[in-house]
Amino acid sequence: MSRLIIVSNRVAPISEGGPAAGGLAVGVYDALKETGGMWFGWSGDVLASGQPQIALEERGPVTFATIGLLRRDYDQYYRGFSNATLWPAFHYRADLVQYDRHEYEGYSRVNAWLAQQLVPLLREDDVIWVHDYHLIPFAQALRAAGVKNRIGFFLHIPFPASQVLLAVPPHRELVQALCAFDLLGFQTRPDLRAFCDYIVNEAGGTTALQPDGLTRIEAFGQTLCAGDYPIGVYPDEIAELARAGERGKPVRTLKSTLHGRKVIMSVDRLDYSKGLVERFRAFERLLDHTPAQRNKVSFVQIAPPTRADLHAYQDIRLRLEAESGRINGRYAELDWTPIWYIHRQYERAVLAALFRASNVGYVTPLRDGMNLVAKEYVSAQDPEDPGVLVLSRFAGAAQELSGALIVNPLDIDGMADALGTALSMPLAERLARYQDMMAQLRENNVSVWRDRFMRDLGRVSVRQASLPPLERAQG
Ligand code: G6P
Repeated sequence: MSRLIIVSNRVAPISEGGPAAGGLAVGVYDALKETGGMWFGWSGDVLASGQPQIALEERGPVTFATIGLLRRDYDQYYRGFSNATLWPAFHYRADLVQYDRHEYEGYSRVNAWLAQQLVPLLREDDVIWVHDYHLIPFAQALRAAGVKNRIGFFLHIPFPASQVLLAVPPHRELVQALCAFDLLGFQTRPDLRAFCDYIVNEAGGTTALQPDGLTRIEAFGQTLCAGDYPIGVYPDEIAELARAGERGKPVRTLKSTLHGRKVIMSVDRLDYSKGLVERFRAFERLLDHTPAQRNKVSFVQIAPPTRADLHAYQDIRLRLEAESGRINGRYAELDWTPIWYIHRQYERAVLAALFRASNVGYVTPLRDGMNLVAKEYVSAQDPEDPGVLVLSRFAGAAQELSGALIVNPLDIDGMADALGTALSMPLAERLARYQDMMAQLRENNVSVWRDRFMRDLGRVSVRQASLPPLERAQG
């Protein structure tokens, strides 16, 4: 059986329990544990000077190969082009896109350099699976180094409509780079459609749906396949984590502080794509319009810090702090705090237990590739007495979780209404919705996601262009 080589910017912290937030990290770590192979990416270290070296660490069947970034590379590749240009554009925030040609050059240079670091570790029959927007030029760089292995790419974030993508000056080069992969995976059909639309209307290429369900793409002199692969979770494993934590300290503390009040729970990286301000205002609107809810419900927002050295993230943090202060100032009483805004990270097991202890999961991003918190919230519920998921229609998860109360995060009144409905939903309806969503989550768990992608990557023909011979370590 071929080894699986995962390449992603961020490699999950190598501790038991895995990472607390970040869809990519949770989904991929679970997947790789099952197959064995290697996970290659950035170590998270930023070096002032010197020559970064790969560190190899074996953990059971998985080898972690990580490398630091020089300060300039971090600034241009990660902080700059990846997170100040691509991230906002791909989340439909053209207004936040910052573009600097030097950062783009740095992004391309770091991709080429990372690819060169990986080449000596590769074997002939390895299957390479590259993840997310930091690494769009990675296959092109591997091909330039003579690598002939199958290379797939999965985009964890949305793929934007062409008119939005055009806001990124090197959009054409980026799409051309994507066409160097053998298989492209998107989270949802709308993302795949947006990509195909660019291929046909901007790149002058062609797309054709094949009998096997894959879309065949011809563009930039390349032939490749693309499909939609909504990422999943392991719902039963999360349910078990949640059940085990039911009597743990975090849940006991929460319950004793609440004194029988209901709780609405949200967990997100503190990112402007998550719709946090709108969400806070909708909770305020609920209190405004429904006096009976005052002092009867608290909203817990866990929002761990992320990319805090970027201006747009400092800005959303300030706005959120102002909103939570304002709303609490308006409604809090001596014995009741309406919003608990917690700016730090919790372990995955603690979050699962908190999800189970809450009445409503409140997941309302303005745009999100998938949003695994929505899936984790449902998975963590007590099957006898489940909570209700309030979910943005702009999260990829909304394509599958029709048992949620689907909201438009820009419609503050609509979200306030949905919160009211969720808080008073009778048990029979909660059960029906929960069972419907659990069935869907079990059917498309993270193994199914990985296996579908791997199966399709195994099927597509590897391009055998006249490439220079590859020097690889054998073994
Ligand atoms: C999203 C992205 C991931 C990223 C994660 C955390 O889930 O899709 O690629 O790793 O956010 O962001 P960070 O910038 O800390 O890696």
